[in-house]
Amino acid sequence: MRKKVSIVGAGNVGATTAHWIAAKELADVVLVDVVEGIPQGKALDLLEAMPIAKNDVTVTGANGYEATANSDIVVITAGIPRKPGMSRDDLLNTNFKIMSDVVSKVVAQSPESILIIVSNPLDAMAQAAFRQSGFNRERVIGMAGVLDSARFRAFIAADLNVSVENVTAFVLGGHGDTMVPLPRYSTVAGIPITELIAPARLAELVQRTRDGGAEIVKYLKSGSAYYAPSAAVTEMAEAILKDKKKILPCAAYLQGEYGIEGYFIGVPCKLGSAGLEQIVEIKLTPEEDAMLKKSAAAVKDLCSVIGV
Ligand code: NAI
Ligand code: 2OP
Repeated sequence: MRKKVSIVGAGNVGATTAHWIAAKELADVVLVDVVEGIPQGKALDLLEAMPIAKNDVTVTGANGYEATANSDIVVITAGIPRKPGMSRDDLLNTNFKIMSDVVSKVVAQSPESILIIVSNPLDAMAQAAFRQSGFNRERVIGMAGVLDSARFRAFIAADLNVSVENVTAFVLGGHGDTMVPLPRYSTVAGIPITELIAPARLAELVQRTRDGGAEIVKYLKSGSAYYAPSAAVTEMAEAILKDKKKILPCAAYLQGEYGIEGYFIGVPCKLGSAGLEQIVEIKLTPEEDAMLKKSAAAVKDLCSVIGV
């Protein structure tokens, strides 16, 4: 039997995620949105592309949750995106109400599913979904680190004029201004980038990564990035659906790892069929550790505003 991925929020990130998942023939896809006609229309359009893509998956759209029943994975992108001048944190109260409502409906239909949370502010929304769902931490995972690391990798590859395939990079911490790119753990064909890029230039690439979301918002004016975010969700979903045991930076609920207790924050995670199968603890310098703790404190502040 084919796997099933439901995506709540059929806007830019949700619909593009549906596109990647169907194009890779990973699973049947169900798109859900509150706006009448949008999930149905986008799903039908995608379904009609499948003979050309040569992929045997179904894509359906709905305004209710019945069609999502027994999903293997539910991706939650419902909410509002930011506009120029807004930070991800400005979305907090609106998206918290939406997240609470969506999660209760998702869980009623798919009590065994794995949730991939996308809505911003990401770490606080993952925490809200975790609390609301009652799921164990293995089944609630936030998407941010794969995106932030992909941005860092793209900038490094362009700067050195090398294949993106050669570049690995890790960005940890919260998905916000306090995110923690880790040049020490970033490599080109196994060579640490600290040996290939001068410190001043590297600092510029790190800052561009931190500002990566805002750079796109500034261009688009009426929304935020969605191609790279949806590709990032798809990489996580694929790792779970195919039980790949892939190590990716994801927002996970920490229970003492990295000295952080009771909050979601981006750390290296092993993803497989059980969801979050392991949190990988890497050694941080005191400076990196301080940055991670500062990032966690920012997440904690947001969580306290919404009481999760
Ligand atoms: P969008 O506005 O294109 O789509 C959001 C969709 O959610 C809309 O179609 C809207 O009708 C729907 N929606 C609103 N309330 C709903 C509800 N109660 N139930 C079902 N659907 C509902 O926004 P976009 O660009 O797709 O972004 C979605 C969210 O993802 C935003 O909060 C954005 O900030 C976040 N995001 C997070 C990223 C990350 O790295 N974690 C990356 C990119 C976006
Ligand atoms: C991004 O980083 C908006 O969080 C989203 O592009």
